[in-house]
Amino acid sequence: MAVEWSGLTPDLFIRLDRQSPETLGSQLQNALRTAIREGRLQIGERLPSSRRLAVDLGVSRGLVQATYEQLEAEGYLRAFGGSATRVAFSPQTTVVTSPEGTPAARMEIDFAPGRPDLNSFPARDWLWACGEATRTASARDMGYGDPQGSIRLREVIASYLQRVRGAFAGADDVVICSGFTQGAALTLAALRAAGATSVAVEDPGHLDMPILVRRAGLKPVFIPVDDRGLVVDELARTKATAVIVTPAHQTPTGVVLAPDRRLALLEWAEQVNGVVIEDDYDSEFRYDKQPVGSLQGLAADRVVSIGSVSKSLAPAIRLGWVLASRHLGAWIAEEKHRRDRCSPILDQLALARLIESGRFDRHLRRMRGVYAARRIALVEAIGEHAPNLVLTGLAAGFHAIAQLPRGADEAEIVAAAAQRAVGLQGLDRYRSPNSDGPPGIVFGFGDVNQDAIRRGIAAIGDLLRQG
Ligand SMILES: Cc1ncc(COP(=O)(O)O)c(C=O)c1O
Repeated sequence: MAVEWSGLTPDLFIRLDRQSPETLGSQLQNALRTAIREGRLQIGERLPSSRRLAVDLGVSRGLVQATYEQLEAEGYLRAFGGSATRVAFSPQTTVVTSPEGTPAARMEIDFAPGRPDLNSFPARDWLWACGEATRTASARDMGYGDPQGSIRLREVIASYLQRVRGAFAGADDVVICSGFTQGAALTLAALRAAGATSVAVEDPGHLDMPILVRRAGLKPVFIPVDDRGLVVDELARTKATAVIVTPAHQTPTGVVLAPDRRLALLEWAEQVNGVVIEDDYDSEFRYDKQPVGSLQGLAADRVVSIGSVSKSLAPAIRLGWVLASRHLGAWIAEEKHRRDRCSPILDQLALARLIESGRFDRHLRRMRGVYAARRIALVEAIGEHAPNLVLTGLAAGFHAIAQLPRGADEAEIVAAAAQRAVGLQGLDRYRSPNSDGPPGIVFGFGDVNQDAIRRGIAAIGDLLRQG
């Protein structure tokens, strides 16, 4: 996407050679053509006014105007009602009609899972926290920070996880990272360095997990998930010595790992001298019962718990934490140091302030109400428009599964809904290539308001009923 430079006169890097036999006009034309062809000037980008460019280059305004006209005629540039001249060509697209480029097809109502309500981001509170963090940061805070994370944030996160997740944590057990994704990559790298060769992942499961495992040079082993969560007996039949699980609210099925399976999983880890990587991604939001405590609180030496604020605040913050035993935590911090030194310190201090001040809890309380109302809207809309469908996985988070009858064509329903600008995801896309299972649709309702939920389900009710 082109950058919309503010100000009237975006600078342009062009050199004219006054010793060259080539005329200045020809040089200017060629320089602009090359910049556009090489993508240095992008489609939609605004050029300086002819007056300004003429002054900058020390040439006449008429020469610049003639150049712009020539490149317009060739299709490189386009003038917009005297307001601005913009780039109209990109190396990939030879025919261009709009300076904004062609917008990708967008779903009007998108039930994509994994997205919190981005409109509810507590911008004022965050702004306040950033202000506080910047105002109180010492000169030392402005240097490279501790790769393990700011001690202030680690203390706050440790106490938060103890209070809210029943975790077993002190500041020394926490490594601050850039979201779950980096936390998992760091942990996997540390496990590989310690000799692991294969890591189990849930099937169906989050699409990124086998990719993260492979990127770390490890082999993913797919373990089935049933209506009680990960089938631990199957895990025990493999050679994997680590597993990534979503015990509080499985992605994508929404199942909560059954109590006996939780214990069996920890026993397995003990027997194989292995590690459970707990993806604690949306545990803040639970509707029907008390929150399920973190697995890490039961076996701190066997479980690495990774969380982030991507669901509780917004993915854009890119802050998360790894809770690991001291030994593994030291490896993880070392890996963090090697990759990017440390996470941004001012953001870490701001998050610490946000949590300490109670503003974070207040936001979570508000969001629980928002998501609970959306969850009810989804249940009611499905009840009205496709009463035979069974919705499962609704105990926590902000996605649920509509179980389709066996034989229903999941892909066809997703494609037909897309024709109506309603974005759906089938369960199949979360399965490993060799696995199979009953068809279903994943309904994310985090970033879809009640009205849109009702309209979306009404628009595809007939498709869901056929299923
Ligand atoms: C189950 C699950 N785990 C992990 C992640 C990645 O989270 P982060 O943004 O913290 O990297 C997501 C994001 O959607 C997710 O749904």
